[in-house]
Parts: sequence; structure tokens; C-alpha cells
Amino acid sequence: MRSLVLAVMLCAGVASFASAEDAKAKGEKVYADQKCSLCHSVAGKGNAKGALDSVGSKRSADEIRNWITDAKGMTAKMKTTRKPDMKAYALPKDDVDALVAYLTSLK
Ligand code: HEC
Repeated sequence: MRSLVLAVMLCAGVASFASAEDAKAKGEKVYADQKCSLCHSVAGKGNAKGALDSVGSKRSADEIRNWITDAKGMTAKMKTTRKPDMKAYALPKDDVDALVAYLTSLK
């Protein structure tokens, strides 16, 4: 009985780890599909003016989410001046969640 409980706990742990990894991988794909690299770079690939390499330590998950869904509001709030402005993305919630998981992992 005890080993069964342990096995179930282990499986749950592995499953949640795997889904976090899946979300990150999916986010990386959404990032590529949406051509975020036109204005941003990760690991030296893309537009160096908008490096996102340490965005996960600089910005909270909420701030990153707001950039994706309300770029105009964030541009005003953060008083950023880089042009062209980022536009808000009307993406399915799953895609936004995945992007946030990916970007918050960049530290
Ligand atoms: C047309 C250019 C453009 C595109 C395309 C673009 N962005 Fe941006 N983004 C900006 C600008 C300008 C800022 C303001 C901050 C700055 O000066 O880098 C910004 C800021 C951000 C920030 C906050 C960065 C920080 O350091 O606070 C995140 C996160 C972000 N963008 C994610 C994305 C994602 C994800 C995509 C694709 C879905 C994307 N951006 C597409 C122009 C763009």
C-alpha cells in the first residue's frame, strides 16, 4: 500500500514537471509562429534591440502577460519609447499561457 501511494505521488510529480516543460516548448513555438523575433531576440537570435534574455527575472508573469494582451496599455504604463510599438495579440488563452511560461523561464 505504501509503495502504491509513493508511486502515485511520483507519477503526479513527473506529470506536472512534464506539463511545465510542454508549456515552455509550446510557448517557444508560438513565439516563432507570431514572429516576435522581428522586434525581440533570445540567445542572440532576432532583433537585438528587444533582447528578452532575462525578461523572466526582470518582469513578473503578469507584466509579461499584459505586454502580450495589452501592449498599448503597457507601452503607456512603462513609458517605453522604442519604435515600432508592440501591438496587442489576440491569441487563444492557451497560447498566451504558453508564451508566459516560456518567457518567464528566460532568466
Ligand atoms: C513591432 C515590434 C514588436 C513585435 C512584433 C513584438 N514586440 Fe514585444 N515589444 C516591442 C516594444 C517596442 C516593446 C517595449 C520595450 C522595449 O523597448 O523593448 C516590447 C516589449 C515586450 C515585452 C516586455 C519587455 C521588457 O523588457 O519589459 C515583452 C515580454 C514582449 N514585448 C513580448 C513580445 C512577444 C511575446 C511578442 C510576440 C507575440 C512580441 N513581443 C512582439 C515591440 C514588439
